[in-house]
Amino acid sequence: MEKIREVAKQRRLLLVPCPYQGHINPMLHLATYLHRNGFSIAIAHTSFNSLNPNRHPDFTFICLDDRLPDDLVASLDIAKLLLAVNDNCKASLKEAMATVLRDVVCVIHDEIMHFCGEVASGFGVRSLVLRTNSISTCIARSVVLQLHAEGRLPLLDEGSSMEDEVPNLYPLRYKDLPVSAHSDIYQSTKLVHKMHDLTTSSAVIWNTIPFLEPSELTQIKTKIYNQIPIFAIGPIHKISPTSSSSSLLNEDSACLSWLHKKPSNSVIYVSLGSVARLTNHELQEMAWGLVNSNQPFLWVVRPGSVRGSDGIGFILEEFQKKAGDRGCIVEWAPQKEVLAHSAIGGFLSHCGWNSTLESLSEGVPMLCRPYSGDQRGNSRYISCVWRVGLTLEGHELNRNELEKGIRKLMVEEEGKKMREKAVDFKRKIEDCLRENGSCARNLKELVDFIMSF
Ligand code: UDX
Repeated sequence: MEKIREVAKQRRLLLVPCPYQGHINPMLHLATYLHRNGFSIAIAHTSFNSLNPNRHPDFTFICLDDRLPDDLVASLDIAKLLLAVNDNCKASLKEAMATVLRDVVCVIHDEIMHFCGEVASGFGVRSLVLRTNSISTCIARSVVLQLHAEGRLPLLDEGSSMEDEVPNLYPLRYKDLPVSAHSDIYQSTKLVHKMHDLTTSSAVIWNTIPFLEPSELTQIKTKIYNQIPIFAIGPIHKISPTSSSSSLLNEDSACLSWLHKKPSNSVIYVSLGSVARLTNHELQEMAWGLVNSNQPFLWVVRPGSVRGSDGIGFILEEFQKKAGDRGCIVEWAPQKEVLAHSAIGGFLSHCGWNSTLESLSEGVPMLCRPYSGDQRGNSRYISCVWRVGLTLEGHELNRNELEKGIRKLMVEEEGKKMREKAVDFKRKIEDCLRENGSCARNLKELVDFIMSF
């Protein structure tokens, strides 16, 4: 390994994350791992959701000129915004690669940042794609593309068949397909087409764990991407455990002191990730469901996550009086540390893929409340395949259903079984990270692959 590190030292890699939290985190974990293995690291990021170079003094940061208009940044149409990022950042990246990034030997870019592959190949530089979703999401997206080609989208037009299972896609129903709630169908399928086009890629790095989706991995390796290597190196947040935070918001660590005072497995952690937004009504239902459950809770209410209000402001008074010390509310938590805390007994989650892997890695069972995109599919795997959680179905969040769900997960026999299963997953994941485990092996192969360029 020392020898590899010595040779790698002369090699500079350029990593380009997609500018959203759930994509930035895995890319920066990968960057830290590769840096520890001797590579020199440059990170190119957009000015939208730009990164803080001071947190990562070992890396060189290049800010790409994204020229995003304010109204697009403010809109909820993420697909449109990301297509604009792909169009607008090309020139800036080209210029950087012709000058300050001339010595880059390989580009690793988020699958969404498709333009990087095109620019890299123009300079004769190899590029690798990082996928931050599950393999099953990728397969489900192919189905969405097919439905679109057949003129069957938006799916809502099909009425009752939304509940049907999609053929050959167990456990997903039509309503679980990764169709964005906020983006125009034309824009989002255009983006997915780009994400699935691997003509400029030499390999795919996947933040998944082979034992979680074994048949999906085989399917993708043999039928879909059989021309290029796939490195399933997840869970990526565990490959560089002490890497510094890449949070766009400040983490409120005070909640850890609050957790220290709570009994083991007693607290339900509540977080809906970095993008999902609640209505005021849902916020109230959630607040009263939490209070009525009588379980201690740690709740993340992200600024701007409640439509049409400042969110936390309205709940503070009346609700916090009722919750007392049984509830702790923060704007952003150090989630990985929270999930690893012995006081946490359950996770009420939107089921983003990072949150899912982070929860499984700590043996925490989940109460799923998915919002959009891949989250519904992830929640189906959590509740129907891995059986480490249960899903709150229904269009509207309801305080009684939430209260029941929390009690089931935290105190009833059903939840106890899920916790045992989740702890089993934690052990299996630890095995993957050990020498000769899937993660360690695939990472080594990835490093060897990059060294072969
Ligand atoms: C969306 C998609 O749902 C997800 O599947 C995709 O891979 C990325 O975009 P997002 O809302 O960002 O997800 O959720 P998630 O994937 O769970 O990522 C959120 C990240 O933010 C996690 O790494 C989590 O640890 C972190 N986080 C969240 C915090 O550090 N603190 C918090 O308070 C909440």
